[in-house]
Amino acid sequence: MVEYEKVKQIPFGGDYNPEQWPEETWEDDFHLLKKAHINIMTLNVFNWALLQPDETTYCFDKLDKVMELTKKYGVNVCMATSTGAHPAWMARKYPDILRVTADGKRRKYGRRHNACQNSPTYRKYAKALTEQLAARYADCGNIVAWHISNEYGGVCYCENCEKKFRIWLQKKYKTTEELNRVWNLNFWSHTMYDWEDVVVPNLLSEEFEDDGIRTMFQGISLDYARFNSDGMLECFNMEKEIVKKYMPDVPVTTNFMGAYKPIDYQKWGESLDFVSWDNYPNYDDGPAEIAMRHDLMRGLKNGKPFALMEQTPGVSNWQEVCKLKRPGVLRLWSYQAVAHGSDTVMFFQMKQNIGACEKFHTAFINHVGTGETRVFREASELGAELEKKIKGLTLGARTDAKIAIIFDWDNWWAAENSAGPSRRIRYVEEAIQYYKALYEMNYPVDIISVETELSGYQFVIAPLLYMCKTGFDEKVRNFVREGGTFLTTYFSGYVEEHDLVVCGGYPGKLKDILGIWVEESDALPKEEENCFSYGGNKVLARILCDLLHLQGAEALGVYEKDFYAGMPAVTKNKFGQGNAYYVGTRADESFYRGFLKEICDELRIKPAACTNPGIEAAVRKNANGTFLFLLNHNSYETSYTVERPGLELLGGKNYSVGEELKLGAYDVRILLEAE
Ligand code: GLA
Ligand code: ZN
Repeated sequence: MVEYEKVKQIPFGGDYNPEQWPEETWEDDFHLLKKAHINIMTLNVFNWALLQPDETTYCFDKLDKVMELTKKYGVNVCMATSTGAHPAWMARKYPDILRVTADGKRRKYGRRHNACQNSPTYRKYAKALTEQLAARYADCGNIVAWHISNEYGGVCYCENCEKKFRIWLQKKYKTTEELNRVWNLNFWSHTMYDWEDVVVPNLLSEEFEDDGIRTMFQGISLDYARFNSDGMLECFNMEKEIVKKYMPDVPVTTNFMGAYKPIDYQKWGESLDFVSWDNYPNYDDGPAEIAMRHDLMRGLKNGKPFALMEQTPGVSNWQEVCKLKRPGVLRLWSYQAVAHGSDTVMFFQMKQNIGACEKFHTAFINHVGTGETRVFREASELGAELEKKIKGLTLGARTDAKIAIIFDWDNWWAAENSAGPSRRIRYVEEAIQYYKALYEMNYPVDIISVETELSGYQFVIAPLLYMCKTGFDEKVRNFVREGGTFLTTYFSGYVEEHDLVVCGGYPGKLKDILGIWVEESDALPKEEENCFSYGGNKVLARILCDLLHLQGAEALGVYEKDFYAGMPAVTKNKFGQGNAYYVGTRADESFYRGFLKEICDELRIKPAACTNPGIEAAVRKNANGTFLFLLNHNSYETSYTVERPGLELLGGKNYSVGEELKLGAYDVRILLEAE
């Protein structure tokens, strides 16, 4: 994490791109931004073209001057390496750095994140630039973190990638016989005789042309997704290593994007000194979706705090409709990040630019150029509040969750690559059903990988565990046997890690734990639904309805319609000391809340607090105490009845049990609970 002794308080600030402005304006920006109480700037994110105007020339004059100003104004620096967009000369001279799209077209120079991460030319120059930067600023004293590249992502299908993919496969599978087995290549006469027969799986080869998601050979596409993510990780590690050579003690990160499909962030987690991410919800995302992404990011390093690297102070430019953050929401969402484990409150960006696609992206300083704006006022009030009321109190605090939701990128890729049983199956959407129900009742939840140790949890939920990797079933078996509660859903346990079906009845190796077997599944179109009864209520069943048989489990609800009426939809199996639940369909919101609450009650798992609807409660703990964050997502005033006494940090008032704590529209309160 950022070096606390140097920071002393929660880092507040964000991306500043002075290279887009005349030098004479910089000092005025610093003046104004200091008024907003910023203490950190992310610099040099997209600056390669100016830093290196040609192959052999480097020029640091501007960056040196900006660094001087950061020192003069007492601002810490999160230093980026600028390798997220290459200069035009490089593309002109070495077209092999340009990415190739899924339909086989080589891109021209343009956009950003535009280099093939497997291009030896790109890597050579990225390495050289990083070396120059790290050597030059090693002793500057105010760099508190390094920010490698920017939002790694996308995918390339060029010849570099094809060649490297073959090597990656050879290393993994050793022989073409094994490759033929794991990809099931006797299907459609695909047998490969030589590694040279392997081609990239894109629209010219295996991908379906109509949706760009599904593929004829799931095994090939799955390995390509893994390979693509690994290649970018190699680039990250390459730059990180160089930085560490010069500044071994300064932590290194890159900014993630939440639930971003192309990159297996869980695999990247251990390479980052701390996780950081950019929170840009869609205008119609609810607070649960945002909270889930924060928790996903927190899980990447086993619960270690992360950094909120970017969020917009107002609107971002790239949405269909760029809806303003309502007054108070800038503050609310900043504290929501902190409540879920962020140790920073940072933004994109400090100053709005005047040309190209981000000219209408809100900044602290907007086009009017003064501090006389609503956004500047809200930002500086938040800056002052963090500086005076929070200081560094919450830094390093952890979340203690008894419930975990399993999230796995391989599962995400494989389940959605699948041709059948339904294109309505969506991995993240299924996970959010469970997360949201728990979130709305304020249960702390960790989002963990299949590698995470389960024994610290009481209740583990694995939505859509389509791929049950070798050994994972045994892990679940032991967990349940020793008293844990496990829940999984339809479309689970079908395949092993190569996307080969495990025969003997679904859900494969999980059958004995769940005490069921699934014979068939009925995919329902959007306009159709079945239903089942649960606890006297009629619950809708959508997307996929499993037709399953009990083998030891009891049915908690049975379908009411169609030829499978009477067959179990939801089951419970006692296994060892624990229980395993199976939800064989997509139910509705009220079912998830009721069902999960019953399980939590039985397990005596307590929510962070009991609140009125729309108030989110989350807890973090460190040596300074236990912080209860109360976040009012409603556009109206409401209140919370205090359950444990404490000092409310933002208002500075002590509360005792039973007292009413008022929260205005989009308001935040933080109770530091008395020991
Ligand atoms: C991303 C990038 C930033 C900026 C913002 C705009 O998060 O990292 O450079 O483009 O989006 O929303
Ligand atoms: Zn490539």
